[in-house]
Amino acid sequence: MAGTTLKIAAIPGDGTGPEVTAEAMKVLAAVSKLEGFAYDVETLDWGGDRYLKTGEIIPEGGLDHLRTKDAIFLGAIGHPGVAPGILEKGLLLDLRFKLDQYINLRPVKLLPGVETPLAGRGPKDIDFVVVRENTEDLYCGVGGYLKKGTPDEVAVQQAVYTRKGCERCIRWAFDYTRKRNSPKKTLTLVAKTNVLTFGHDLWWRTFQDVAKDYPDVKTDYNHVDACCMWMVKNPDAYDVIVTTNMFGDIITDLGGILQGGMGVAAGANLNPDKGGVSMFEPMGGSAPKYTGQNVINPIAAINAMAMLLEHSGHPAAGKRIDAAVAHVTGTKMKSQAAGKMGHGTREVGDLVVAALG
Ligand code: IPM
Ligand code: MN
Repeated sequence: MAGTTLKIAAIPGDGTGPEVTAEAMKVLAAVSKLEGFAYDVETLDWGGDRYLKTGEIIPEGGLDHLRTKDAIFLGAIGHPGVAPGILEKGLLLDLRFKLDQYINLRPVKLLPGVETPLAGRGPKDIDFVVVRENTEDLYCGVGGYLKKGTPDEVAVQQAVYTRKGCERCIRWAFDYTRKRNSPKKTLTLVAKTNVLTFGHDLWWRTFQDVAKDYPDVKTDYNHVDACCMWMVKNPDAYDVIVTTNMFGDIITDLGGILQGGMGVAAGANLNPDKGGVSMFEPMGGSAPKYTGQNVINPIAAINAMAMLLEHSGHPAAGKRIDAAVAHVTGTKMKSQAAGKMGHGTREVGDLVVAALG
């Protein structure tokens, strides 16, 4: 991608989304000068306010428009005036599904100076990555009611798993583990094969099959309940985890708090196929109560920008941001919690910019 202009669509979204997006964009502007690449950001007003005004979440032609971009940056969605589920389904999940972003990559890395709730643990103990399948499982919206609103009501919500869907995710996770090349070089499948004897049996068999192509990668298996226990007890044992959509959602919130909370946790929704468009986001929500107060932590959004650059042809720029962020958390911030950072939102962005050079 060198020599070409990196085309980004930014969806700052709701609540504090625009504030953290502004800091990520500030860091992008600075790092692009230092690394010498050109970029272009188009800001889209999609989110709760627009929905309340127009009744539209993704406007007509919006998806095709996004397909002309190299990457999407999403601030946060969630609006107090909009019922829960509408924007989540209509924006975030719709983009993940329709752009076929089948990998949700969530690093769990404790940065220097950041407090973890795990006693006696530091950055060298907490550094693993969760690869969450992002297009199937309970998230596919298959189900229905019978006798709704009566005492005999029945609700069915089905998990859908396909060979293609789990195989492409598992294969990507093996490739990623190989490239990450940590001394552990271990991919752990997290599922629940003892109970979900159809869907997770498909995952299990596919995992065994794909593993044959990666003899250099060690494999392991955890039931998801045990995984929650091990993540707390022995986080240092993990290298890369691959898991289903629903379990990935749950264990990455646990991972998020191990690495210091939603102020720092970021994720990538990747469509790694040729021509695929990927989306990068801080993992936390829109935190509407903090809107406009300059107190929300922008580090997660800045980390999401680093991931965007790493996955869009500018890995050196991504690494430069990572190093700057580690310097700022390690030496400049009191806490990663909103309002307790020892600085405002904009000032943390400025500190990261200053640390880039
Ligand atoms: C996440 C979020 C979403 C999910 C919600 C907002 C639909 O929790 O990105 O982890 O469940 O995937
Ligand atoms: Mn979640």
